[in-house]
Amino acid sequence: MTDWTDIGALTDIPERGARVVKTHLGCVAVFRTVNDEVFAIDDACPHKGGPLSEGIVHGRSVTCPLHNMVLRLDTGLAQGADEGAVSTYAVRVENGRIMLDTARLRRGQVA
Ligand code: FES
Repeated sequence: MTDWTDIGALTDIPERGARVVKTHLGCVAVFRTVNDEVFAIDDACPHKGGPLSEGIVHGRSVTCPLHNMVLRLDTGLAQGADEGAVSTYAVRVENGRIMLDTARLRRGQVA
């Protein structure tokens, strides 16, 4: 079951930027790529909890601002020699608005 929640306009997020959505399970970082794709992942790096929303977006990846771990935005998986992963959340753009599936966040189920 999904529960799409409008969290703002696509243009509210700069290209290669992110916006943080606070949930009772923690902060979710919603990213916009240079191609206007959006992705939502936990805003805590699996290494030492760095704020991924403040990282550098390149392609479909983000580099953590603390120690440079690279994570895929679409899968949440660490790249290269690093190991680890963050949860990903369903998100889409509809008529210029960003819709985040908050059903899983409310039920407290984190992959
Ligand atoms: S906290 Fe992200 S790489 Fe260390």
